[in-house]
Amino acid sequence: MMMGKKVRLVHLEKEDLAKSQGWVNDPAIKALMLRVLPVTRMDQEKWLEDIARNPAKMVFAIKLLGTGEHIGNTGFYQIDWLHRRAEFWILIGERGSWGQGVGTEVVRLMLRFGFGDLNLHKIYLHVGSTNEPAISLYKKLNFAVDGRLREHYFLEGNYLDVLAMSILKKDYAG
Ligand SMILES: CC(C)(COP(=O)(O)OP(=O)(O)OC[C@H]1O[C@@H](n2cnc3c(N)ncnc32)[C@H](O)[C@@H]1OP(=O)(O)O)[C@@H](O)C(=O)NCCC(=O)NCCS
Repeated sequence: MMMGKKVRLVHLEKEDLAKSQGWVNDPAIKALMLRVLPVTRMDQEKWLEDIARNPAKMVFAIKLLGTGEHIGNTGFYQIDWLHRRAEFWILIGERGSWGQGVGTEVVRLMLRFGFGDLNLHKIYLHVGSTNEPAISLYKKLNFAVDGRLREHYFLEGNYLDVLAMSILKKDYAG
């Protein structure tokens, strides 16, 4: 478990799946997460099994301190133990929790965990080029833009550029 001032990050449990499914299927959030197809309950259950079995995936539920409300999920995918890199993602699904500093705290907790505990060298991600809140958040925390992948995703009838962003351990302020 990781403890912040606003939230704690805990392992995702079966009872967290219904909310998680609602968030990824929310049309506004689906596009921000660069997803196209709807996610079924069965997909969610397979996902949870995969997380438990696959050492290259780690997923945490974001829960508010105090109420314990589950407001989102975050994780590392494609953890590569040889090259010491991982792909980061975050989804705050409860829109009422946006813009209150939760995302900043979660990314900071995950960077500390990734660089400190997992001894990663690089943490990277893909973000839609129009997702201003997410891009500002990553830049604020010292992620650099590695490049722009032109028309990399076909979403809602249009091709979308994505930014490849990353942070190296040496650029992590702690
Ligand atoms: C992107 C996301 C994680 C941001 O979380 P959050 O809790 O709203 O972010 P914070 O309140 O910590 O704000 C972080 C920074 O984002 C930027 N930001 C936040 N809201 C913004 C907005 N509406 N427009 C532009 N920038 C914004 C600011 O730079 C802010 O830092 P500052 O307050 O110090 O200026 C959250 O909105 C989310 O989960 N969105 C849906 C899924 C998604 O887009 N995930 C990322 C995919 S790569």
